[in-house]
Amino acid sequence: MNENPAALIELATAYWGSAALIAAVRLRIATILSEGPKTPTEVAKAAGSDPSATEMLLAALTSLDLVRKVDGERFANQPLADTYLVEGRPEFLGPALLYNGDVYPLWGRLDEVVRTGKVTQSPEKYLGDDSERTRNFVYGMHHRALGVGRAIGQHVDLSGRRHLADVGGGPGTYSALLTLKHPGLRADVLDLPGVVAIARDIVASMGASERVQCLPFDYYQDDLPALPALYDAALISGVLHREQPDGVRSILRRVAAATEPGAVLYLSDVMLDDHRTGPLFGTMFALNMRVLAHDGRCHSVAEQTLWLDEVGFTVTAVTRLPAPIHYTVIRADKR
Ligand SMILES: C[S@@+](CC[C@H](N)C(=O)[O-])C[C@H]1O[C@@H](n2cnc3c(N)ncnc32)[C@H](O)[C@@H]1O
Repeated sequence: MNENPAALIELATAYWGSAALIAAVRLRIATILSEGPKTPTEVAKAAGSDPSATEMLLAALTSLDLVRKVDGERFANQPLADTYLVEGRPEFLGPALLYNGDVYPLWGRLDEVVRTGKVTQSPEKYLGDDSERTRNFVYGMHHRALGVGRAIGQHVDLSGRRHLADVGGGPGTYSALLTLKHPGLRADVLDLPGVVAIARDIVASMGASERVQCLPFDYYQDDLPALPALYDAALISGVLHREQPDGVRSILRRVAAATEPGAVLYLSDVMLDDHRTGPLFGTMFALNMRVLAHDGRCHSVAEQTLWLDEVGFTVTAVTRLPAPIHYTVIRADKR
């Protein structure tokens, strides 16, 4: 027997690390330790948890390099945890990680999703029906956009543009950042009603309400508002991975109908290589979307170039962003 099964054992247990991280975020361990080094008993008291189980979690987090033991007894945050896991810090990623915690039980039923082709939990839960899940989802997107996603904005050039349609704009973070960067720009964040209700607060907290409006919109049913004139810019970020090819083409048709010649459209998303079997993050993310959304799927640049061409857009630039962003940004110009 030449093959070593170590890789299989590692893969089969990889979720242990995810679970430890998510438990740490739920118990606010890094926030508690940001006040200074603490013993497991002190952490447990602040977290409302069991002291001996807390000690074991802290030991696992030490192995994961998220905390360290400082004097043989007390634990302190490592820089990674101190930067991204402490509530109130500008780089805080808590809601984004908690959102993965919400999704985590669904991955345990992946075989069922693959067998039936159907999701095991209604996506509507985090798109408005369950207010806490929706809030985790929307704030998760906001923190991601503010943190790692800021780099995407550098590849979206809206100089000289006046009106942006941010289709499936979610928290409105990109619209807010883009209008703050371009004083002549207004933006419409178009998303489902339960999501735009939260987006309005986020946009206001960023001081961008004057030029960003958040409008209820369902891309399966509604035409883009495009008032008083057609849009000269559109952004579709992190949306098309919810849709099969026909759904993507239908959304692109609606965007094409609401944009003027010369308009610029940016598609930003996790995308697959043209052979559709990589990269690793892309194929895994595609499955993640399939457990979450009825029609979840990732698309290749080649596929989207064709679909854009069908509705009158020519792809003029493609930028692949590395980890931790994993997004590709396609720029297309309306003929
Ligand atoms: C991953 S989020 C991306 C949000 C934002 N564009 C960003 O990049 O941060 C996908 C968005 O699509 C929205 N969405 C899903 N179904 C929709 C529909 N039928 N009509 C409009 N928006 C929808 C979701 O509410 C969510 O805000």
